[in-house]
Amino acid sequence: MMIVLSSSPIAAVVSVALLLLYFSGDTLGAPCPINGLPIVRNISDLPQDNYGRPGLSHMTVAGSVLHGMKEVEIWLQTFAPGSETPIHRHSCEEVFVVLKGSGTLYLAEMHASVPGKPIEFPIFANSTLHIPINDAHQVKNTGNEDLQVLVIISRPPIKIFTYDDWFMPHTAAKLKFPYYWDEQCVQESQKDEL
Ligand SMILES: *[C@@H]1O[C@H](CO)[C@@H](O)[C@H](O)[C@H]1NC(C)=O
Ligand SMILES: *[C@@H]1O[C@H](CO)[C@@H](O)[C@H](O)[C@H]1NC(C)=O
Repeated sequence: MMIVLSSSPIAAVVSVALLLLYFSGDTLGAPCPINGLPIVRNISDLPQDNYGRPGLSHMTVAGSVLHGMKEVEIWLQTFAPGSETPIHRHSCEEVFVVLKGSGTLYLAEMHASVPGKPIEFPIFANSTLHIPINDAHQVKNTGNEDLQVLVIISRPPIKIFTYDDWFMPHTAAKLKFPYYWDEQCVQESQKDEL
């Protein structure tokens, strides 16, 4: 942005107005504040959404597309009783820390042409779980209170392949990229490049 110094009061007012517009539009009020992200933020003030999935509350605590993180991304997610992630896989590392509630991790190893019947692992408050790279998995709240998890992934932005069921071939799994919570910012950054 160019700021023109001028002796005209009108030009000065216009410059200040443009400057305010610039900061409010591009950094302070933007949904994708790649610049100007405060060092300390109150998690209670971060935006959350269910992205069309009933029972989910998703918050990107620190994101690649949203905040310019390079190596890791962190989510805080809450699943209402009965709600679940899709069956999916991704080629990044993923670690969960269960903060509240309980549920089940379903995990299928990547050794055949389909995920197949998954192994079930009970998960509970203060448990931590890691998902081996590319193994198809699903987390479900099988308890009767909210399940809250902190999720850490490597190599963002995440590229998720989803399955309709455990017997869908790996080759038929559908790529969803950008993922729902990255969609708006990816579109905005592509628009900026045009
Ligand atoms: C964080 O935000 C919540 C909700 O707005 C508020 O109640 C709480 O006091 C805040 N914490 C601090 C330390 O500001
Ligand atoms: C979780 O584990 C840590 C380490 O043992 C412990 O300090 C903490 O109190 C536990 N929290 C709950 C909710 O059990």
